Amino acid sequence: MIEHSDSLLSQSSAFESELPISSACLRNQAPIADVLMQELTVPSVVLELGSGTGQHAAFMTAQLPHLTWQPSDLSSALPMIQAWRKRSGQSNFLPPLVLDVAQDLWPVKQVDAVFSANVVHFISWPNVRAMMAGIGRVLTNKGRAFLYGPFNYGGEFTSEGNQQLDVWLRERDPESGIKDIEQVIITARKEKLRLLKDIGMPANNRLLVLQKSL
Ligand SMILES: C[S@@+](CC[C@H](N)C(=O)[O-])C[C@H]1O[C@@H](n2cnc3c(N)ncnc32)[C@H](O)[C@@H]1O
Repeated sequence: MIEHSDSLLSQSSAFESELPISSACLRNQAPIADVLMQELTVPSVVLELGSGTGQHAAFMTAQLPHLTWQPSDLSSALPMIQAWRKRSGQSNFLPPLVLDVAQDLWPVKQVDAVFSANVVHFISWPNVRAMMAGIGRVLTNKGRAFLYGPFNYGGEFTSEGNQQLDVWLRERDPESGIKDIEQVIITARKEKLRLLKDIGMPANNRLLVLQKSL
């Protein structure tokens, strides 16, 4: 781990009195923790991509103390994550890293697991491909990646809410949008990441469990 965000530490004070809160995180954090508890039973280092507010890091480190959680995101998100880290006080909640999934070199060497919530639909296909390649590089053999969020099946949305979300995403960034699970699986396989489980989650979301197999 080399690129910690100390230069952004001071900005976190702006968030300390009123932490940014994602209501989606509040709804999905317990069901996600239940899955991680079953899947990651031994002490593990988990790299989180696109940590957002940092709420998942705060919740998972409290619920799953055997996990060492390495949050990361674009630099603009780091003050929020720092503020949540300070509030959580968990020693297994590491300082966040600046990590753009599109960058060729990621600031981590090897991790036992990767977690990412609501990022695949938020980014473009080229960035999803870069994300899979990066996950393939940093995961240990047999390590697992957990991708949470909405996916389409056979080119179809699984709910009206997901269809509306897709419209909103594409208005914001025409290259983003909910991805077809079949294409995600093919892209992952090219990086030696094989789908182990596709778990149904609340609000028409899925939790994909991928395993690196050399
Ligand atoms: C919808 S938010 C999800 C945040 C959080 N994981 C959650 O579930 O609440 C998408 C996140 O992806 C991050 N993101 C967007 N593009 C990225 C990129 N190229 N590399 C890494 N993170 C990125 C955003 O900064 C944002 O935090």
